[in-house]
Amino acid sequence: MFRKKESNNHQELDMNRIPKHIAIIMDGNGRWAQKRHLPRIAGHKRGMETVKTITKAASQLGVKVLSLYAFSTENWKRPEEEVSYLMSLPGKFFNSFVPELIANNVQVNVMGEIDRLPKATQEVVNQAIQDTADCDGMVLNFALNYGSRREMVLATRKIAKAVQSGKVEIDEIDADLFSKSLMTGKFGANADPELLIRTSGEQRISNFLLWQIAYSELSFTDELWPDFSADSLKQAIYQFQNRDRRFGGIKTNK
Ligand code: FPP
Repeated sequence: MFRKKESNNHQELDMNRIPKHIAIIMDGNGRWAQKRHLPRIAGHKRGMETVKTITKAASQLGVKVLSLYAFSTENWKRPEEEVSYLMSLPGKFFNSFVPELIANNVQVNVMGEIDRLPKATQEVVNQAIQDTADCDGMVLNFALNYGSRREMVLATRKIAKAVQSGKVEIDEIDADLFSKSLMTGKFGANADPELLIRTSGEQRISNFLLWQIAYSELSFTDELWPDFSADSLKQAIYQFQNRDRRFGGIKTNK
């Protein structure tokens, strides 16, 4: 009898086609906590542990940039106690995890309007960036106080100023210049995620990397972020590798 091969997904991952940039909307911390009759912040604390697991897994798989949506420009609307806990998370995370980041050759980057974060948060973030500056493996890119529309507005202002000062001609404004002017511009060829994952069953982009995901594969999973595991990541990559990416062209037989 012919039986479909049982697939152990990560055994079948093509290590030559690991997405270079993976972006994740880490959602469901609150629901994870509520299901356990715990305060929401317990979900964020557990979510922070998942960040460590996924960072190590992605780095070991050879991902070049891992962008994590940690705090959006809209998250300030949450209750003060929750916002204040979320602002303390980078400190908790980096204080316990920077040695492992260095051991894994992971460089920290932060995108967003950092100067609007509490001073103490800015300090720990800048310290982590400094401590990992010599690492040249994966970039762990936290989006903190980030919103994609705001990012595009800021890029537009930057370009307008360059025009005003005569450094750029209007006709030189193109998609490439715009990409370079965004907060992901520094990642060069890896500026755009090839794969965007959102956990917790919601199927929205929520103002994350709107320009950059033009051709990204989207992966939605019902798992809540604290339950997302290295295997879940491999599963999403497996899905990615089995999709037909045509970038607006047609399928070739190569
Ligand atoms: C979304 O879940 C999650 C957030 C707004 C915060 C994400 C933060 C972490 C995962 C912690 C790690 C952060 C750092 C800086 C190390 P939600 O609260 O919206 O969940 P819900 O939709 O179930 O309410």
